[in-house]
Amino acid sequence: MNRRKFCKLASVAAGSMAGLDVGVGGLRAATTSNPQEYPEIASSDPETPEFHGPRVIGATPGRPFLLQVPYTGHGPVTITAAGLPDGLQMDQAGRIFGKIAKAGRYDVRLSASNHYGHAHRILRLVAGQHKLALTPPMGWNSWYAFALSNTAERSIGAAEAMVKHGLANKGYMYINLDDGWQGGRTKSGEIMPARHFGNVQSLAAGVHRLGLRFGLYSSPGPQTCGHHTGSYGHEWQDAQTYARWGTDYLKYDWCSYGAVATGSGLDRFVKPYRVMRQALDRVGRDIVFGLCQYGMAHVWTWGSKAPVWGNVYRTSNDIIDTWPTVCRNSFDVEADLYPFAGPGHWNDPCMLMCGWGYFWSGKLRPTRLTPHEQLTQFTLWCMLAAPLFMGCDLNRLDSFTISLLTNTEVISVNQDELGIQARRVDRQGAVEVWARPLWDGTCAVALFNRGPHAAAGHIAKWDMLDRILPRGAAPMRGAQRVRDLWRRKSLGLIKGLSVNIPSHSAVMLKVGVSHIRDG
Ligand code: GLA
Repeated sequence: MNRRKFCKLASVAAGSMAGLDVGVGGLRAATTSNPQEYPEIASSDPETPEFHGPRVIGATPGRPFLLQVPYTGHGPVTITAAGLPDGLQMDQAGRIFGKIAKAGRYDVRLSASNHYGHAHRILRLVAGQHKLALTPPMGWNSWYAFALSNTAERSIGAAEAMVKHGLANKGYMYINLDDGWQGGRTKSGEIMPARHFGNVQSLAAGVHRLGLRFGLYSSPGPQTCGHHTGSYGHEWQDAQTYARWGTDYLKYDWCSYGAVATGSGLDRFVKPYRVMRQALDRVGRDIVFGLCQYGMAHVWTWGSKAPVWGNVYRTSNDIIDTWPTVCRNSFDVEADLYPFAGPGHWNDPCMLMCGWGYFWSGKLRPTRLTPHEQLTQFTLWCMLAAPLFMGCDLNRLDSFTISLLTNTEVISVNQDELGIQARRVDRQGAVEVWARPLWDGTCAVALFNRGPHAAAGHIAKWDMLDRILPRGAAPMRGAQRVRDLWRRKSLGLIKGLSVNIPSHSAVMLKVGVSHIRDG
């Protein structure tokens, strides 16, 4: 067989690093992944400037807009923007702010340069009604990190760490407070932060000063799941308060609403979200609307449409840091939901279970997912175009977790502007192949090994991708250029490939790459 046309990847154990290395000699002996093994991830960024994060972003005209353009490159980097719409400006740090004056589509030409080179990117700004979250939101959520023990201090600490560890440079931008910040209401009914929590408004201002966006959590019932004050009967007042404080994202749960729900049929489920949507639409601030009702009444069929206009909807129960739960929320629940995701509305299989957090245990501890399982989760969340919310303490990140969370080639699949959720295109025993088409005419392809032992997966011909290609796209025939995204390496022009995948691990590829770069 011609080596250049049929490439084999083999798992190799090298000390504590077990990676997926290109092995032209064929599959090596199968190894079962163990908790000490780490997948190989390319972690360094080039010295030349590069832009990251979304290529398309939306906003409502006349409402405050803030975006720190994500970019890397050895400093100092000079960054400029041409073609900004009226009402917006960009500062030297690459922060775009202001209020877009008029509805429309604006192609902004971003340029960055330093001693080593230049980068250019077109960032499309879409200004109109209900144009938020045109790519899956990325950020941090406090729940798995700190549960009800989160505070303003811990949250600003997370925001600072997001900047310090270079996560903000890769596109993470939301600092979302989950349950536990609320502390009753004033006499006039205004929601107050809990005394232990600290000041929410100055926290939001601090988050914005870092170029990040700020999110809150509530429930339509009288109480949240953590028995804090919910929004029931105060929806309009709460939306106004959130906007006044500078909130950019609302995660809206269901807890305790069942006891007060009225109506019958579907409207019983739709109503609390319709009511909050009406309130959010009137407050003069863009607030991404995240529904968290665990997939009840097939939320994916109505959550994104009028009158709810949800941007994100949880499709299943809460995730936890165990392999079966990660598989349930993603491979199993999401397999048939691909028609319901797209720009502005995303299926949400819940948060990323990496690093250190409470993970429902009441104390800070490392995730129970092995490094290979964490790689699988991140790969699949990117394939599924799922929101990427880190559920861990950002001040306790080790180098593996940082490299897992910051690989820009993997993240760019998640942020792809077509927003097409991956579909399962093949199954070979415990190995599954999932694929999605990307904006540049290529496909992202991931092979997953769900089994307890290392397994071989193969793609003999690219025609298995036919069913996910957009209508009218040229089929992939013969040899295609292939790139290994986790290792940021080109595999050459090949007709198919065979991979040996450690247990509970994954391989992520880009197929049809027009320009091969070696990382
Ligand atoms: C529910 C949600 C979680 C989290 C908790 C907070 O369980 O599904 O994501 O928000 O409530 O109490």
